Amino acid sequence: MRKIIAIDGPAGSGKGTVSKILSKECNLLYIDTGAMYRAIAYLTLKYNIDIKDEDSIVKLASSSKIRFDGDSIFINDINVTDDIRTNEVTSIVSPISSIVKLREILVSMQRELAKDNDVIMEGRDITTVVFPDAQYKFYLDASLDERVKRRYKQNMEKGIISTLDEIKTSISARDYNDMNKKVGALTRTEDQVYIDSTNLTISEVVDKIKNIIEVK
Ligand code: DC
Repeated sequence: MRKIIAIDGPAGSGKGTVSKILSKECNLLYIDTGAMYRAIAYLTLKYNIDIKDEDSIVKLASSSKIRFDGDSIFINDINVTDDIRTNEVTSIVSPISSIVKLREILVSMQRELAKDNDVIMEGRDITTVVFPDAQYKFYLDASLDERVKRRYKQNMEKGIISTLDEIKTSISARDYNDMNKKVGALTRTEDQVYIDSTNLTISEVVDKIKNIIEVK
């Protein structure tokens, strides 16, 4: 049977880092669904589309092709791996991801991408909407201060300039928006395994998940 490992959690909870490691160690296809919302946000900025113009954004998504190649993401054959991480994209991605019709398009692309593979997919609605029947469902969390520190460090490594205060404001706003969407909201459910990674190292989190997916 096809293995689907679904991981949800807020920004900076470590989903991306942990999923990438697990994908290599357990031979799973890694799909970062946040990167797909970011790719649409990137094109929205590129074509100067107003973020309130939902119809144009939906049209843009339905006529675009997103593909992953290793750790890189391409939209319409343009490699946007770095471009989707800028502060500009980050500031508009959460409201864009609230557009219900856009979510329908991306959710069906996500299911299609996973069709023939064992996958590890991370995002906000993977355990609840994209693959509610996945065998392995996790909610990865960490305190706000810890998530801010992690994102600050990641940004520094990528050369993205922002202060701790700016990151805290941005993450808090995204958390609120992502948890209060009409469709696809980030939610905790009884059937997810909840992991608080505030005081755990990356390898401790990887081991916890590995123990579950290898034993169960
Ligand atoms: O994981 P990330 O921070 O790169 O995601 C960017 C945004 O996309 C995030 O603010 C919420 C949204 N998102 C979503 O609504 N559903 C997903 N499955 C993944 C991300």
